Amino acid sequence: MKRDPLHIKSSGSEFPLTLGRDVSGIVMECGLDVSYFKPGEEVWAAIPPWKQGTLSEFVAASANEISRKPQSLSHTEAASLPYVGLTAWSAMRQVGGLKEDNCSNKRVLIFGASGGVGTFAIQLMKAWGAHVTAVCSQDANELVQRLGADSVIDYKAGNVKEQLKALPLFDFILDNIGGSTEEWAPELLKKWSGATYISLVTPFLVNVDRLGVADGMLQTGVTIGRKAVKHLCKGIHYRWAFFTPSGPYLDEIATLVDAGKIHPVIDQVFSFAEVPKAFQKVEEGHARGKTVINVTNKK
Ligand SMILES: NC(=O)c1ccc[n+]([C@@H]2O[C@H](COP(=O)([O-])OP(=O)(O)OC[C@H]3O[C@@H](n4cnc5c(N)ncnc54)[C@H](OP(=O)(O)O)[C@@H]3O)[C@@H](O)[C@H]2O)c1
Repeated sequence: MKRDPLHIKSSGSEFPLTLGRDVSGIVMECGLDVSYFKPGEEVWAAIPPWKQGTLSEFVAASANEISRKPQSLSHTEAASLPYVGLTAWSAMRQVGGLKEDNCSNKRVLIFGASGGVGTFAIQLMKAWGAHVTAVCSQDANELVQRLGADSVIDYKAGNVKEQLKALPLFDFILDNIGGSTEEWAPELLKKWSGATYISLVTPFLVNVDRLGVADGMLQTGVTIGRKAVKHLCKGIHYRWAFFTPSGPYLDEIATLVDAGKIHPVIDQVFSFAEVPKAFQKVEEGHARGKTVINVTNKK
């Protein structure tokens, strides 16, 4: 119902469902009202979840969802960035209020720093001048340092809470892990100074699946309200963030990419025929950046 509320009672089905959110490719045709983009232009985008996905030769997108691809990247490289980039942008820029001119004196902590969102978030924060502490496992240490992390904590080497408590307090925490982390990690923030804890791991979809749309949304609203108030009483801001499709935000990300401040981090590239294998790899976890599908076998 959430995916297609206007056609809930009509016959037919959206299946087979096309998976994939990221796309980088060439504009084939434009709608009559589209003047900003022209056929033949190279563009990139992350398509919203209520539309068919991108693992196909042709993808339909709205003009406000796409952006001109960074010139310095191949399509394979560009396809690794929009979804994680826009998710990190939503969390840090839109919800968290961080930006180029207010980050230079900020201490930022990123949990799950070695994955898709984490590797992008480290680079965004370094591009804006923040001090970044990354939490990941030991084998990702070199990767996150190469991306600019100032300090790296191995969550598998003993008590991660004690390791982090030994460091100065933080202004901002991005939580890509959720679970028990958010029970103790907010203590690592400075109190009464506008410090913010943003979680990307929310019960929204689980609640809707379990309770239905209305009760699920209600339950989710109650949970976020309760958590926000509880943390506000302790002197910190607690928020959830969600991926937001946006061509204009991708334009800003493309500028950072072409300036050499953000680089794609690609774990593995699969051909279209190998899509099941690619999903199996993603399901196994331990991502180091992104898994990309090359649909056309061109770069
Ligand atoms: N709210 C939204 O709209 C939205 C959008 C996108 C993603 N998300 C959520 O955000 C989270 C991150 O997404 P992603 O795409 O970056 O995932 P990902 O690519 O799978 O990365 C997760 C990373 O975390 C590491 N990790 C696992 N347990 C850890 C721990 N306890 N401490 C530190 N690192 C740990 C993993 O490596 P090791 O296991 O090897 O350590 C992996 O590198 C996911 O939960 C995803 O569902 C939410």
